[in-house]
Parts: sequence; C-alpha cells; structure tokens
Amino acid sequence: MADWKTGITEAYKADKSELKVNLGVGAYRDDKGKPYVLPSVRAAEERILMKGHDKEYAGITGVPSFTKAAIELAYGKSSPVLDRIAATQSISGTGALRIGGAFFERFYPNAKTVYLPTPSWANHAAIMKDSGLGVKSYRYYSKETIGLDIDGLLEDIGNAPKSSIFLLHACAHNPTGVDPTPEQWRAISEAVKNGGHFPFFDMAYQGFASGDTDRDAYALRYFIEQGHPVALAQSFAKNMGLYGERVGTFSLLAGSVEEKKRLDSQIKILVRPLYSNPPINGARIASEILNDPTLNKQWLGEVKGMADRIISMRAALKTNLGQIGSKRDWNHITSQIGMFAYTGLGPEQVDRLAKEFSVYGTKDGRISVAGITSDNVKYLAQSIHKVTA
Ligand SMILES: Cc1ncc(COP(=O)(O)O)c(C=O)c1O
Repeated sequence: MADWKTGITEAYKADKSELKVNLGVGAYRDDKGKPYVLPSVRAAEERILMKGHDKEYAGITGVPSFTKAAIELAYGKSSPVLDRIAATQSISGTGALRIGGAFFERFYPNAKTVYLPTPSWANHAAIMKDSGLGVKSYRYYSKETIGLDIDGLLEDIGNAPKSSIFLLHACAHNPTGVDPTPEQWRAISEAVKNGGHFPFFDMAYQGFASGDTDRDAYALRYFIEQGHPVALAQSFAKNMGLYGERVGTFSLLAGSVEEKKRLDSQIKILVRPLYSNPPINGARIASEILNDPTLNKQWLGEVKGMADRIISMRAALKTNLGQIGSKRDWNHITSQIGMFAYTGLGPEQVDRLAKEFSVYGTKDGRISVAGITSDNVKYLAQSIHKVTA
C-alpha cells in the first residue's frame, strides 16, 4: 500500500493534464486544493512566540497542560474517570499506537494478539507486529453492501480467544469511511465484554468526522460507561492540521487511582528508551488551543468547517453523478464519514480513472474526499461515471 501510494503521488506529479485530480492524499485540503493551516493554530503560534518559552526538554510523558486537556477532550470534561487515566504525550497517533503495542506486549499476559478490522489503516498491522504482538483480523466491511458487516464482526469478536485485544477505529474508519451506528456500537461493546476482550481505540479523527468532538467520541465514552478497561491512541494531525508537528496522546484507563500511578510509571519505563521525551512545539500549540476558552471556541468552529466541507463534497459528488445520468446507487458516498470514501470501484476502474482521466485514487477504490473541490467535482463525477457506466 505504501509503495502504491508513493506511486500515485509520483504519477500525479508527472501528469501534465490540467484536469488532474489527486485523491490519494491523507491530509485535508481547502476548496482550492491547498494545504490548510488553521487560523487558531496560527494564533496559538503567535502567543507562544510572545511568551518566549525556553527549549528545555519536556518530561518523559510530555507537556502536562497538553496531555491533561487532550484527555478531557477525548473522555469528556466531566467524565468521572479522569483521575484514573494514565496518559503520555506521543509522536502523534502512530507513536501512541506504538506505545500501546509495547505496553500490551510487556504487561498484558493474557493475550499477545491484536485483532484488526478488515480492512484497516495500512500501518496498523506493521505497528503491532513491530511491537512484538501477533496480528489477526476481524470482519468489518462488506463488499456486497458497501457497508458494515455487523454480523461477521460480532461473530469474530465472539470466536476470538478470551481476553484478546481488539483495535477499534473510534470514528471515521480509515479506509472505508464506514462507522457503526450507536446501536451497533452497543452490540459491539456487549460482544467485547462477553469475550473479556481489551478494547484499544484509535481516535485519529475526533471532530473531523461529524464536526462535533463530543459526538465523535461516542463509542469511547460508551465503552467507559459500560465499565470496559480501555486503551486510547489520539492524534491531533487531522483535527488541528498539525500533521508534521507530531502531536498525540496514549492513555489507559486504570481500575483505581492507585493503579493509575503504577501505570504512569510503567509507561515512563517504556517511553524512556524509545525516544526519551517527546517534541514540545506542537504540544504547546495544541495546549494553547485546548486550554484557552476563546481559541478553543474558534478551533471547534474550524474543525466543523473542515468536516462540513468534506460532507458537502460528498453530497456534491453524489448529486453530480445523478445529474450526469449514473444509474448506480451512490448513497454510500454520503452515508460514509470522514476523510475517505470507499467508492466500491474495482482496481481496473481505478486504473482507467488514472490513465484516461488523470484522476488518482488508491487501487482499493478509496478516494480522499479532502481532494475534491467545487472546481473539480463535476469533472470527477463525469470520470467516475465513464468508468462505471
Ligand atoms: C486510522 C489512523 N490511525 C492513526 C493514524 C496516525 O496518524 P498520525 O501518526 O499522523 O497521527 C492515521 C493517519 O492517517 C489513521 O488514519
């Protein structure tokens, strides 16, 4: 997948067509197709500059004002479990997953196997394998319905050996854009509980999916309410546009405040030989945004703006396909959520899109909705129609 993606970017760059469209990008683009720095991030950077901080090392677990606020954002400001959450800053979502993998490998004697959805973000399996864990899969996406295979999913959770680790995408499933409904999450929670499994949430898109950070945290918070133990990987790459700043958090819910303290010190023992301590700049930016009420409000508006643009591009693509005369059912384009849409196009159709129309997506039929703009949506719909008619 990684090679294929590199291949797409290269092919896109080499393409001389004025109509070319890059739908392989994993980062938000504005309606002109340009990278977007959030105004709240710019404002936070200015404030940080004014404060004249030094560049001393952070502690092993990072910038405390950041991790505290990040945890509140995920679990909810008024969550009754906040004092039981052991947390560390991480090298974005990838680093959080890697710390989680290392933690399970070392301290979770019951299971050395993580179950991943089929399909999942391409890096999940590699991260977990490099952490020394076994990797297996559970059914998630149905090609037939272009939706969730809830029966297969529940069956696979039920058949997994007791106390397995289940990696769950908290929202905006990558690559499919297919999320369980609240009712389906409740069934998943019950199945996970019946198996005594450990849910490990990957929340790389909080706020970016629906535009509402609380709504996107529904699954995580519901599992907590149901008394599950929980591990969580958070990323601020997408929802703050802090991609290259590498800002994230890994956290674990302990059974008691005492246990939390023990977990905190175990996490430090894991992190110290990995990278000593995390970078400070991005965490300071996120901290400023999360802790200042005015900036926070502004940021929430900007996250919603990004989510709304993506939602409106989904609608525009579907409408255009209908207007052009496509007889296919394209409802999944608007029912899916987040940065990506799983179009249901096969590898040959994706290939034709690239070769004949200069439209570049991944060969699994995934397109980055962030790459669609008001200017290219009609051309994109025409191209998709021509390869699917
Ligand atoms: C599902 C999922 N998890 C985690 C990540 C980690 O990203 P980062 O390390 O940039 O935070 C991504 C990025 O695309 C993702 O899609």
